[in-house]
Amino acid sequence: MHHTVAIYTNGEHAVHHLARAVRSLGVYSQVVFTAQMLASLNAQAIILCDNTPAPDSPLAMLAIDSTKPIDVERLKHFLFERAALSATWSMEAFIESQITRIKEQVGDKRVLLGLSGGVDSSVAALLIHRAIGEQLVCVFVDHGLLRKGEAAMVEQLFREHYKINLVTVDAEQRFLDALSGVIDPEEKRKIIGRLFIDTFSDTARSLGEIPFLAQGTIYADVIESENPAKAGELAIKSHHNVGGLPADLKWELVEPLRELFKDEVRQLGRTLGLPTELLARHPFPGPGLGVRCVGAVTKERLDTLREVDAIFIEEVRSAGLYDEIFQAIACLLPVKSVGIRDGERSHQEVCTLRAVQSVDAIHATWYPFDANLLRSISTRILSEVPTVSRVLYDISDKPPATIEWE
Ligand code: XMP
Repeated sequence: MHHTVAIYTNGEHAVHHLARAVRSLGVYSQVVFTAQMLASLNAQAIILCDNTPAPDSPLAMLAIDSTKPIDVERLKHFLFERAALSATWSMEAFIESQITRIKEQVGDKRVLLGLSGGVDSSVAALLIHRAIGEQLVCVFVDHGLLRKGEAAMVEQLFREHYKINLVTVDAEQRFLDALSGVIDPEEKRKIIGRLFIDTFSDTARSLGEIPFLAQGTIYADVIESENPAKAGELAIKSHHNVGGLPADLKWELVEPLRELFKDEVRQLGRTLGLPTELLARHPFPGPGLGVRCVGAVTKERLDTLREVDAIFIEEVRSAGLYDEIFQAIACLLPVKSVGIRDGERSHQEVCTLRAVQSVDAIHATWYPFDANLLRSISTRILSEVPTVSRVLYDISDKPPATIEWE
């Protein structure tokens, strides 16, 4: 068993960095916002943030101004001298304790998991597979709005390589039909979100009785939903996530990453042996290329965009810049532009490329590529993708321009 430190805050300032600092010293820690949460955490010491009133507790306490840089020596003195804790929290210890917990929770029952190919669901799948093997059933919904080669990559890695039970659902036509003629971005998101839930639920029903649903919920998601001071902001974020599940599917949740920060999820993935390339991937929105085909979403436009995106990402990778960039995006714009091909005038698609640096996706600055690299990217796109006649590069910071185009 490991020791636990409560980071007790009234939610006035973000204090995740304190929890991370304590964990990096080998002691597990978690942010709590209320006396009740504090009591149920069963901590052995408390860090009291800012103006949060001290709880009535016999535990060792350290008051910290969370807006100042962390004094690591003071923190160490508190953890290991005053509170006499031991540094026994590590990724290996975490894996072992989660495996025991998952086995206890699910027994011999099956667990369903929606695999997206993103970091969180991939790491969750691997961890749960290690705990219960064949009892895990992963469902991958291919909505046809994915990047080039994405579905094949997921199948190869999870089914062939890890031998995980994987059900792939080819729902491309269903999504294309539902999106036909829709150009409003929020309408697209709603349609895609709803259809995703429907497709996932239909598949779940066809698989017989599965009482557990695993999710790659991570600590940032948990903190946001628990912090009373942030309640108003959740409405803003909700459009990023798919909505509620149907009432007839009463799943008990399995969420083994609930306690981890994003960088810890990556570290866990590395410890479990997931390829670095997958763990370091740029964020990709749930509605996928649906919101990167500005205007109408058609199979032809998606195929064009997939080619453009693949060239862009390949060039960024081979220039060694992928990891420096937070997100690299290609979009098609809802205008046609004149081009000359084989001596003939033609009206073809306009694509725009965007690459940004960011820490939190809230602020972002456009990435200053070398002009020669931009030239070789545009030359490749214009010669290899005949349905594109013009390539633009987006030089807008966020704010005011959001990272995605719609
Ligand atoms: P914006 O465009 O709001 O994006 O600056 C910030 C981050 O959120 C991602 N994003 C989404 N993710 N569903 C998602 O899962 C969505 O509808 C969605 N819209 C934006 C975006 O890619 C960026 O990382």
